[in-house]
Amino acid sequence: MHAPLRLTALALAAALLGPGLASAQEVNVYSARKDHLIKPVLNEFTSKTGIKVNLLPAGEDQLLERLKSEGANSPADVLITTDVAHLHKARVAGVLQPTASAEIERNIPAHFRDPQGYWFGLSARARVLFYAKDRVKPAELSTYEDLADPRWKGRICVRSSSSSYNQSLLANLIAVHGPDKAEAWAKGVVTNFARKPQGGDRDQITAVAAGQCDIAIANTYYYGNLQSSAKAEERDAAAKVGIFFPNQQGRGAHMNVAGAGVTASAKNKDAAVRLIAFLSGPEAQKAFAEVNSEFPVLPSASVSPLVAGWGRFKGEEINVAMLGENNANAVRIFDRVGWR
Ligand SMILES: [Fe+2]
Repeated sequence: MHAPLRLTALALAAALLGPGLASAQEVNVYSARKDHLIKPVLNEFTSKTGIKVNLLPAGEDQLLERLKSEGANSPADVLITTDVAHLHKARVAGVLQPTASAEIERNIPAHFRDPQGYWFGLSARARVLFYAKDRVKPAELSTYEDLADPRWKGRICVRSSSSSYNQSLLANLIAVHGPDKAEAWAKGVVTNFARKPQGGDRDQITAVAAGQCDIAIANTYYYGNLQSSAKAEERDAAAKVGIFFPNQQGRGAHMNVAGAGVTASAKNKDAAVRLIAFLSGPEAQKAFAEVNSEFPVLPSASVSPLVAGWGRFKGEEINVAMLGENNANAVRIFDRVGWR
């Protein structure tokens, strides 16, 4: 009877004193992903391993500021965030540490993780084109580069350049074409805007359905969310819009990831690595991707039936770390060309 009693007392103490005094059987996660997207897999991890997960959800910028100000005293062991731009910023800020794990490296293709192991992509999304089925034929669409062509003047909807998703897309074009050509492209796309950037990705897709523009640039899962929405008007909007994966004859569609890294301050490093390994494994990958209509990074994990309905496509295999490295340059270019 002695051992269970002691365990209970320890758990109670940890609960009362907060995550700062976490035992070896806990892992503290700062997460910028919405709760409902990660709770189920975290619970699964706990039931498999007995390791308790303490989740602190907050916005990306908030979590980074918090990690910086807490420094070595931070209770966080793992940072989970969307978009490689945020993962890269966390690395540059010094709040992550490199991790080597044969299991994680086996699960996640090299282009979806930091080459030095500071962070790992855990789910993938493509940033692609959405077109009005009654006004655009898919055969008219081809590449990201083509969006700067004058024939699209007044026809493109895309959100503000303050979105890391757009920054990562332009960072991609910088990596492929160099900064001058990337800037000319951004300028051309601005000229083709149907309206001043407003709203999020979902709003760009519904604007196409409403006839405000003919093409939108958005992340794949927003389309999935509309298609599977509980609201009939959102499902109807999605039905008017087609999905198009650009650059299929060449390098493939622009990919981005949501991912995780072990914090520099981690007191529970082993548990942190076990958690990331679990999230990269077959069981979690399917669930993790499916809940938000994303693509698993583990090649053998299957996509949801809804995502499978978009058809197979070629995703670019440039290392997504490049997108983080070119982020600051992308922001400057957006500024110069007036993509607000
Ligand atoms: Fe998003």
